[in-house]
Amino acid sequence: MAKKIIITIDGWSSCGKSTLARQLARELGYVYVDSGAMYRAITLYFLRNHIDWTDQKQVKEALEQIVLDFHFNTKTETSEIFLNDENVEYVIRDLVVAEKVSDVAAIKEVREFAVAQQQALGKKKGIVMDGRDIGTVVFPNAELKIFMTADNAVRVERRFRELFEKNPNITIEEVKNNLEMRDYIDSHREVSPLRQADDALVLDNTNLTPEQQLQKALAWVGERVA
Ligand code: CDP
Repeated sequence: MAKKIIITIDGWSSCGKSTLARQLARELGYVYVDSGAMYRAITLYFLRNHIDWTDQKQVKEALEQIVLDFHFNTKTETSEIFLNDENVEYVIRDLVVAEKVSDVAAIKEVREFAVAQQQALGKKKGIVMDGRDIGTVVFPNAELKIFMTADNAVRVERRFRELFEKNPNITIEEVKNNLEMRDYIDSHREVSPLRQADDALVLDNTNLTPEQQLQKALAWVGERVA
């Protein structure tokens, strides 16, 4: 059997990281972990419970009340995130959460909480994790690091279509502003900012079909497990 590796996928908001991560996990029989879902679920908890996240004490106490789990859904064939035993996979995608998640994800205590769990999930290898700091901070020794990118207009259009399906009132302007804001905060924050790891391979999928992006990534995997 081929050796199991850790694959990290980092990059800008809505550039197809989770699509590629799911494709790879399915193809290789690996576990897929959506680290962004963890930050989104924490943000949802803070919003619902009116936590003032500029107050360190409130943040620490709130984190003690949060249990995050991933469960594989055999119908959708992907793992879904649970916040204190509630499936929040759908609700965390809402723009209300997306508008605050980058502020919450910039908090040191929040990152320590999430990163410790992410590292534990990778202990057995055979994992694909996507996010912003996975190749730089969470798994600096990962065998394969991918940094994804795509043209801004393409990213906005893709995310708009996803969100519009759930909420026809959403505008393309709102989506564009949200992606720009998150990219700015994520790449300028003090703790673990989004940046390309020195040893990451760049995958620009602006003009690639999902199948083409998968084949490209699989070729890289092949080189690593050979
Ligand atoms: O799907 P999309 O690329 O739009 O975002 P996501 O992966 O769901 O992540 C949501 C937000 O969580 C990001 O904008 C970051 O602020 C934060 N995040 C992070 O700080 N570190 C990670 N490893 C993953 C996400």
